[in-house]
Amino acid sequence: MKDWEAGIVRQIITEEQLKARVKELGEQITNDFKDDDAEFIVVGILKGSILFMADLIREIKLPLKIDFMEVSSYGDGFETTRDVKIIKDLDYSVRGKNVLIVEDIIDSGLTLKKILQLIGKRGPKNVILCTLLDKVTKREADISIQYTGFEIPNEFVLGYGLDFIQEYRNIPYIGVMDLEKYEKEKK
Ligand code: IMP
Ligand code: MG
Repeated sequence: MKDWEAGIVRQIITEEQLKARVKELGEQITNDFKDDDAEFIVVGILKGSILFMADLIREIKLPLKIDFMEVSSYGDGFETTRDVKIIKDLDYSVRGKNVLIVEDIIDSGLTLKKILQLIGKRGPKNVILCTLLDKVTKREADISIQYTGFEIPNEFVLGYGLDFIQEYRNIPYIGVMDLEKYEKEKK
């Protein structure tokens, strides 16, 4: 039988914790922008942000539009690759708007730095960053994050949108993968 949780050694963030934290983030964002007249656009970074974004926007009680951007990292696996390329750009203009960028995880921060530079040049009113997870100890790029779901240690995590070799995005919690266990169980 197929094992959709092969190699996962433990849950570090449960479904209940995710739900509660996403609600808090949505309330905070709603409060911070409820008196701001500029248009509000939520930009999800594909593909990892999709579950988080779908839940988060339902907790943001503001009129808003959604858009997506996809950036490629060459190669799959445990390590974040250095090279970042835009493979799907935004559909809408961000000029004069408040742009909330939604990310699954910030590791080195190099991916986000590139995205922030690109969007920043297009004349937005504000660019705000919201990440579900932050691996603070791995940060290389100097970026400021306005909203963080959870700070996590430097371990490879997956689920709730985050992948391992493009799979596991449908796991409803955040789990930790053990490569040896994975290789045994994936047979
Ligand atoms: P950064 O440029 O190093 O911040 O890389 C961020 C990207 O690397 C994220 O958007 C993820 O796609 C990926 N990534 C980094 N750490 C993990 C992890 O622990 N699990 C799954 N993907 C990760
Ligand atoms: Mg990602």
